[in-house]
Parts: sequence; C-alpha cells; structure tokens
Amino acid sequence: MTLTPKTTDEDKRRDSKRDDAHLDGFGPLPVALETELRKLEQAFTVDTAKLKEISLHFENELRKGLSRVSRCLLPSPPSSPHSDESDSEDYFGFQTEEGNLPMNPTWVLGWPSGRETGEYLTLDLGGTKLRICWVTLSDRNNEPIVDQEIYQIPEHYKAGEAEQLWSFLANSIADFVQDRELEPDEGTVLPLGFTFSYPAVQEYIDHGVLHTWTKGWDIKGVEGHDVAGQLRQAIRRKGLPIDIVALMNDTTGAMIASAYHDPETIIGAITGPGCNACYMENCGSISKLDGHSLPANLPMAINCEYGAFDNEHLVLPRTEYDVAIDEESPRPGEQAFEKMSAGMYCSEIFRQIVLDLWTRKLVFKGQSATKLKVPYVLDIDFMFDLEEDFSHKLSKTRMLLRSVLQLDANDAELLFCRHIVEIINTRSTRLSTCGVSAICRKKDIKSGHVAADAVMASRPRLKARWAQALGEVLDWPQDREHDPIIMTVARDGSGVGAAVISAMTLQRIADGDLTGVKQK
Ligand code: BGC
Repeated sequence: MTLTPKTTDEDKRRDSKRDDAHLDGFGPLPVALETELRKLEQAFTVDTAKLKEISLHFENELRKGLSRVSRCLLPSPPSSPHSDESDSEDYFGFQTEEGNLPMNPTWVLGWPSGRETGEYLTLDLGGTKLRICWVTLSDRNNEPIVDQEIYQIPEHYKAGEAEQLWSFLANSIADFVQDRELEPDEGTVLPLGFTFSYPAVQEYIDHGVLHTWTKGWDIKGVEGHDVAGQLRQAIRRKGLPIDIVALMNDTTGAMIASAYHDPETIIGAITGPGCNACYMENCGSISKLDGHSLPANLPMAINCEYGAFDNEHLVLPRTEYDVAIDEESPRPGEQAFEKMSAGMYCSEIFRQIVLDLWTRKLVFKGQSATKLKVPYVLDIDFMFDLEEDFSHKLSKTRMLLRSVLQLDANDAELLFCRHIVEIINTRSTRLSTCGVSAICRKKDIKSGHVAADAVMASRPRLKARWAQALGEVLDWPQDREHDPIIMTVARDGSGVGAAVISAMTLQRIADGDLTGVKQK
C-alpha cells in the first residue's frame, strides 16, 4: 500500500478496521492509478459533517412526506391490458407540495403480539425471483415452519406487459398449491400475504397502487393500478380458492417478522438490490390521514420508500458515475438515494469506473471489454465477494474478474479494484445510516434493533462500518461500551412477516375492526 495516511475521521475509521495483511505482497500502485484512486476516494468520501447534513435534510423530508395532504386523481390512466371494473378507479397520484418521500401508510396497525398463529400462503415479488411459501406460525416461542419454492422470473418479463406478469404469478401459485395439495376448509379460502417490493400507495391493507417501478423494472399497464386487484383477478381467472388478505412492502415484512421474535425491533431496512426502510408511527403524526379519524396514538407502520430521497439533488454528493447511472436507467430522476446506496447500483458503479479507466487505457490495456460493457453484468454479491477476499494476493478476486468479466488482472489492477470496491461500499453503507438516523431522531428513539436484510447485516465489515457511521451522525460517545442501536439480521420478511401481517389482519377483522380493510 502506498496511500499516504491522512488524519481525517474518515481515515481513522477506515484504518481502525483495516485487516489488510493479505495485501502485503503487493507493491505500490503505478502513479497514474494511484492518482485515479485518490480522485475517486475524494469524490466518494462522505465525511461526518456531510453525513449529518444529509441526515438532517432526511428528517425534514420524512416529516413532509407524512404531512402531504393532496392526493389527486390523474387525468388519463395509462391503459392496462386487463383493467376492468375492479381497478378502473384506482389511478391516482400525488400532488406533492414539496419533497418526494412517499411515506406510505401500510395499514399494519401496531406490533405483533407474538401470539399470532395459523397457516398462510405468502408470495414475494421483489427482485429477480418469485418466492411462494406455505408458512405455519405457532407463536413467538416456536420457530415458524416455512415450506418454500422459488420460481425464476424470465428476464424479459421485467420490461413486458402486466398480463404476462400476473398470469405467471397465478400459474406459479396454482402449481405450488397443487404440488403441496393445499386446500381450504369447507366454505373458506386460503389466505395470501403478498409482498410487493415497489412503491405502492395503500388506501387499505389489501390494496396498493403502484406509483412507479424501481430497480430497473418497467412492466407496462401496472403503474397507477392496484396491484393487489390485478393479482386478485388473475387468481380468480385460474379459479383458485385464494384471497389476498394483505399486501406489504419487503421492509414492512422484515420489520414485523423480526418484531414477532424480537420486541426490540424498531426499524426494518433493506439495502440490496433496492434501498428502503419501514418504522412505526403514531397516526396522530400522519396528518395526510387526518380524514380517516384514526386515534392519534394508534400505531401504523410507515413504508418510507426513501430510495426516492433527494430526487431534487440538493444534498447528496453525486459523482459523474451516479449521474450516468441515473441517466441510463428506465426512470431518470427517480430513486436518487437508492441509485447511490443500494447493492445493485454499487456493482454498476464499479463497472462504470473500471470501464472508464479501460477506455482511458489505464487498466486492462489491450484486453477485450465485451463483458465489461454490459450494463448490470455484475450482481450484488460480486462487490461483497471482492471486499471479503482475504485470500493470498487476492487470488479469488483475480479468478472472479476472469470468470465474470473475462479480464486478466495484474497485481496493480487487482489492488486497484479492491480499493474501489471498498470506496463504493463504504459510501453506500455510510449513506444508508442517514435514513435510519433520521427516523431515530424524528421518533426520539435512543436504542433498539434495526432489522436489515442479510446483504448488509451478515457482513461483519459492512456492519462495523454502519455502526461507526451511525455513531458519528447520532453523536454517540467515543468511549461507549455498547452501541445503543444495533443492526440485526432481519427475519424472513416475505415469508414469516407476510404470514404474521396476514394473521394480524384476519384477527382484526374477526374482532370486528375493519379499519383499512377493503375486501371485508
Ligand atoms: C422499492 C421499495 C423496496 C426496496 C427494497 C425499492 O426499489 O421502491 O419498495 O422496499 O426497493 O427492495
């Protein structure tokens, strides 16, 4: 390593966790690469002062999102190939006064008691795969039983038509139910909890109008329509004895699944492929729900949809690579925060940087960049595999660069790649604490557990970085013995979480409380 030690907090933080003995065999980087590395380091560094500034702006945005009042019918709904009477009235949008955090009410009213029981079908649509489960809940003291099946969603469906998507889902459910020989009791239907990990505006717990596709999805005929309604129709067309009891976001599922077992849970957070969080708010603080006359102290989970934070580009320190990723995405100008912090975009930033340097003949000179030129060719794990490569002289990284990008790296290129992975991952982790710290400050939460997806929570280096940054933003004392807010690995949100939320909803209905339920 030839990087000159600096004295900023950022460097102290990085140095304190450096466990780079396995990099010892490398010589110094060539001057040109070292210069590039320095520039990148500077562009991607988010120091404590900047973190605090972002977090403060975040807190204001959270408040604005809750107080937004004007929801309006939009003039002309986009055509849906199979929209019918049951979702034709569903096209509406926001008339935002300012700010762009949706802060969607979820109609999940309060924490689970831990006594939720029963058997539930769950369906998870959120990334590359469809997951269907049959979940058996006993109670908090017993491990839920999850019988699951994964269905690969054909890549081209993600830019296809609504009809294709919903039929695929309904057919997969039919296969699952038939395979497991699942049948409802006489006169009843199987209850389904549907995890839909895109921004859906929920008027009810069993309803949700897709505001915009994210994470590169672009299926026509769904935005502006009730996704629960569209799936319900597809299920009916198949003649399946199933009804959607609850629609939820993956962050809500993660938070409730974790709280089912761990009452110290305060937030559910997801960082890859998309980024978002959910927390519990009092209805009295959700002024956009004032018309519903809900008790002020009634808790309701809020799906922040904070990937959309700073779409106006007021505080986030964007680099040229962030700008390029945004411009090349199906929805430029949207999900600004997500595009700088979520796992799927981190890999893409890495690809863009390496491609930029290849174009300038600074790395992989004379080698073909055919693979390197393919957008999103790298999956999320690639970044973590590189960062967690402790093999002698980064032999694993060398192998991965060869197998995934068909590039043969020399020592300097290996070391350079390793450093830029760290730089990108560090920025992503540090940024992700801005949303969490903003929620904690807004709610005056001093301690508790943030249930995060395994992408971050199961990686010790990332977790340590996250705790460090959160401490910086929230001014935790340097000499603290324990971190008051810690990240835990979220329980199975789209399986157990969806089942618990379904159980809570059915119990509410059985108790005669129809608050936030459409299909009564
Ligand atoms: C979606 C959120 C989701 C997050 C994590 C974002 O792109 O808008 O609804 O929670 O990804 O999956």
